[in-house]
Amino acid sequence: MSLLGLRDKSREEILYLLDRAGEFLGEDGNLETPPEYREKLAGESVGLLFFEPSTRTRVSFELAVRRLGGFSVTISDRGSSVQKGESLLDTCRNLEAMGVGALVMRHRDRELIGAIGAKVGIPIVNAGNGSDEHPTQALLDLLTLQRALGREGRGLEGKKVAIVGDVIHSRVARSDVYGLRALGAEVVIGGPEEWVPRGGDEGWGVKVVGERREALCGADAVIMLRVQRERMVGERVDEEAYIRAWGLDDKVAQRWMKDDAIIMHPGPVIRGMELSGALAEGRRSRILEQVKHGVAVRQAVLVELFSRTSRAKSPGMS
Ligand code: CP
Repeated sequence: MSLLGLRDKSREEILYLLDRAGEFLGEDGNLETPPEYREKLAGESVGLLFFEPSTRTRVSFELAVRRLGGFSVTISDRGSSVQKGESLLDTCRNLEAMGVGALVMRHRDRELIGAIGAKVGIPIVNAGNGSDEHPTQALLDLLTLQRALGREGRGLEGKKVAIVGDVIHSRVARSDVYGLRALGAEVVIGGPEEWVPRGGDEGWGVKVVGERREALCGADAVIMLRVQRERMVGERVDEEAYIRAWGLDDKVAQRWMKDDAIIMHPGPVIRGMELSGALAEGRRSRILEQVKHGVAVRQAVLVELFSRTSRAKSPGMS
């Protein structure tokens, strides 16, 4: 009934959701809602609870709900009774009592969204829980990879995907790794020693490299990550050293990347830090494709959630 993460999702479940998302893209690859879905959420409402900043995820969920004929209500800490001390669980129960049919939530706490999901009677989507998971971002990344690498409807076997930058603080990286592994891609992680997983509980079951060149060489796609200062405690970031060792610009891309390799980024992009503006807008970039696919993926997820509250199980949700 909910989508909390990709950690336990099978290849079949992920491919199912990607296929559903593809239904919301026209033949030209642009967003198009088939007539049979335009009133799918008529009379339904979705609560968007964002307790961390967001542009892409929040707005694409809003648009996805609207494109399905429903409406959304947005809540953040400012201006809601959370500011007066109400617990988030009570806020969610109140929304449920008012007839809200599903919740989409972002919060810095890794445990809270799952805990609330277990205590309310409506589906919940994790829109980012601290540095843990961001499943709809990973789904839109996988959809973008499928389409860019000619693998629509199929896995990513034989394709190498590099995830580069501040990996350890990244919920996108975690969900991407789960999804990429499920779809059979070869995944390589690269970044400064203190920002990549080291084994033990942090071992993500993928290759970790200590040099940008190793990550980029032979990759079919490179997912660049933002340096997530908001999740660092007492860490000093040497920007110049970071850019020198791990930044991606035209010169580095030309030297180490395959000519047909693509560049992705979940956003927000800090131009000149992890990625140059020229590359973000260049021929390799799929960044705005990712954003577009985010609406399609969220439409698909919402249709599944609402279908499954009243009908038989489909494979994509737990
Ligand atoms: N990729 C992503 O989650 O972007 P927002 O923080 O703008 O939602």
